Amino acid sequence: MTTPEAADRAHVREQALGIAAGWSPPDAPPTWELTAELFRAIATEPELLGIAAGIPADRLPPLLLSAAVRYLVARRSPHPLAGYFPTPGSGQPRLDEGFRPALVAFAREHASELTQLCAEHRYQMNEVARSADVLAVLGAVLGAGVDPERPLALVDLGTGAGLGLHLDRYRYRFGDRTLGDPDAALTITPELRGRPAPLPARMPTIAARLGVDVEPLDLGDHRVREWLAACIPPETTAVDRFAAASEVARAHPADLVRAEVVDDVVGLCARMPEDALLVLVDTYVHVFLTDEQRARFRRQLSELGRDLVWISVDPLVPLGPEGTESVQYLPVPPRALEASRAGVTGVVGQLSVSRDGTAEGEVLGLAHPGGAWIEWL
Ligand SMILES: C[S@@+](CC[C@H](N)C(=O)[O-])C[C@H]1O[C@@H](n2cnc3c(N)ncnc32)[C@H](O)[C@@H]1O
Repeated sequence: MTTPEAADRAHVREQALGIAAGWSPPDAPPTWELTAELFRAIATEPELLGIAAGIPADRLPPLLLSAAVRYLVARRSPHPLAGYFPTPGSGQPRLDEGFRPALVAFAREHASELTQLCAEHRYQMNEVARSADVLAVLGAVLGAGVDPERPLALVDLGTGAGLGLHLDRYRYRFGDRTLGDPDAALTITPELRGRPAPLPARMPTIAARLGVDVEPLDLGDHRVREWLAACIPPETTAVDRFAAASEVARAHPADLVRAEVVDDVVGLCARMPEDALLVLVDTYVHVFLTDEQRARFRRQLSELGRDLVWISVDPLVPLGPEGTESVQYLPVPPRALEASRAGVTGVVGQLSVSRDGTAEGEVLGLAHPGGAWIEWL
């Protein structure tokens, strides 16, 4: 008979391997290999798996433990373990066979601190590169039935520290096409796979922006910054992007509210200017809602009585290789099913809702969870 503890371990192990496979599939840039190795170690080393299996499932055990490890390593700088992890501007340190034993020894020595960190924190990874996925969707919808000159009222659902609220302040390079201020502090450069992902003809004007989170994060607090930095996968471009985007967000304080995306969406949308096109952005948020919450969210959009576009970048649900459904209730192309079976993959979709409640949308692409590539379908 399988004990509950063994079942927890098996579940956490499967999740950790799915994360490793999604972030670092065989064709990923080699800089993602440390991330994969960290999650494979969480899946297979008893010192790590034991800690992760003790974390409630809704707190995303492998991801939360990875952040606790990164946080404690950054604080303690243990030799040689700290040297394997990138810091802003460092480039990707070389990964070798010394990493795993150093990690296991560290986990053994600091098991109670890691457990404590996991109990005190939530996993809140802000990946600003997902702004490129969102911009590609805007490239697809602006002009195609939507007035490209109309300013946007941007509501970032599950915004974390609000990095996604500044998508017009970053520069983007899609192959040989670029968009955004050449002097921007951050350039986001996803590899393009599949059909060329569209970019809008010009950067949309954002007339109003609002970030929503059950736990909005204040980047002005250095402890928050340190924890958020620890939630970033240990990949050099991700680490550099987070450092640059944090500075942009701190330089442009935006309106972040503590609210629940399903219970409060109607009231939050009512705060946005009527003459702007309402754009609801959800990157890696709806995937964590229950079936009932997702259904209620979708129903409310049709009852809002205004035009809106809901852009989602979320894995299929349920999260994991068995995921088959789009969080937006859109038909799922076979390629999205195939990619999701291979590892955690962002499914990029849009649902346009008219003021009379009618809606249409489609899955447009797939995206690496850490922004390394976009595969336009
Ligand atoms: C995985 S993070 C993604 C953050 C950001 N959207 C990104 O892609 O970088 C999920 C975020 O959603 C927030 N969140 C989760 N469930 C929520 C809910 N029901 N209402 C509001 N925020 C929620 C979490 O606190 C967290 O900041």
